[in-house]
Amino acid sequence: MPRALILGGTGAIGVATALRLRARGWDVTVTSRDPARVPPPLAVAGVRHVVGERGDARHLAAVLGAGADLLVDAACYDAAHARAVAPLVRDVASVVMISSKAVYVDDAGRHANSAEPPRFAGPIHETQATLRPDARALGAGASYGGAKVAAEEVLLAGGAPVSVLRPSKVHGAWSRQPREWIFVRRVLDGRDVVLLRGGGRGADHPSAAANVAALIETVAGVPAARILNVADPDCPTVAQIAQAVAAALGHAWRVIDVPVADTSAVGRTPWDRDPPVRLDTQAARALGYQPAGDYATTIPEELDWLVATARQPDGSAWLPAPGDPFFAPLLDYASEDAWLAG
Ligand SMILES: NC(=O)c1ccc[n+]([C@@H]2O[C@H](COP(=O)([O-])OP(=O)(O)OC[C@H]3O[C@@H](n4cnc5c(N)ncnc54)[C@H](OP(=O)(O)O)[C@@H]3O)[C@@H](O)[C@H]2O)c1
Repeated sequence: MPRALILGGTGAIGVATALRLRARGWDVTVTSRDPARVPPPLAVAGVRHVVGERGDARHLAAVLGAGADLLVDAACYDAAHARAVAPLVRDVASVVMISSKAVYVDDAGRHANSAEPPRFAGPIHETQATLRPDARALGAGASYGGAKVAAEEVLLAGGAPVSVLRPSKVHGAWSRQPREWIFVRRVLDGRDVVLLRGGGRGADHPSAAANVAALIETVAGVPAARILNVADPDCPTVAQIAQAVAAALGHAWRVIDVPVADTSAVGRTPWDRDPPVRLDTQAARALGYQPAGDYATTIPEELDWLVATARQPDGSAWLPAPGDPFFAPLLDYASEDAWLAG
């Protein structure tokens, strides 16, 4: 039975990958820090869980000591993380490091987290320029994208067959930041309008955790050092995402167009990129990767989990808290109602 180890395996990508591999006969172990946040379906499927801090060298040596056919590093955030794991993967047949499309810069040096949004000329290919590698730790001043570039470089320079995967906006059950919550919460609250900037014409490529898992299984069978974008086969606009969520949950709402020039925060969403940000995924396809599905096909997994969890008496621990700094401004009904009345 082939053996897989997933570092940081209790989030969206880790769970989707663990369950996919397990269903195909793999022996799977996942790691994470918080034993209270281990999704129950993992144990049901026979996936082992080991508690540990990714930055602890002894923990890494212990979990990798028995060797593995596949190592998926879903918690590699900076060069120090990469340096800690690099000497331990020499006997691993295939290594996958989950990076991010946040590494890419446009011609003016703008990127996913810059003050001004990036403007890419078309779908982003893996050869697109990236941020300069920042070897500092993520908590010591490095930017998310710069630290990811540095981690990628450390692992690719080590000589192991490391597939660096660059997802865009990940969606899936057990996500720590389930962005579609901004629409699901509205459905649960019975909102009959949804306000969208520019009518929701922006787009920022989604990456289903199920599609990332499918690509991980593909590269496990063809190990090599490489970089691959991973994103859904389609790239829905914000309006299409809102519609897909409403349709999947049997809800209907009226879309209100908030002019792009409006200076308030009303109508903003996590996917407001205009021109759209899209990843070119042809390199992954050329390896034989078959996506699990498009956005509308894959999104119910996260939606069903969100709705079921919201209905559980003890479900709130898994969901964004009411004052969550990322979600609160995107769910500010008072400002929306004032805007509508104004
Ligand atoms: N989510 C996105 O939209 C997105 C987009 C592009 C790239 N990525 C990359 O994808 C990877 C995984 O993403 P995801 O969406 O599956 O993440 P997620 O839902 O946030 O889950 C992160 C996982 O890593 C574990 N973890 C975090 N820090 C850890 C540490 N120091 N030691 C041990 N375990 C740790 C978490 O568990 P504990 O907290 O319990 O330790 C959890 O299992 C990350 O490398 C991220 O940078 C994500």
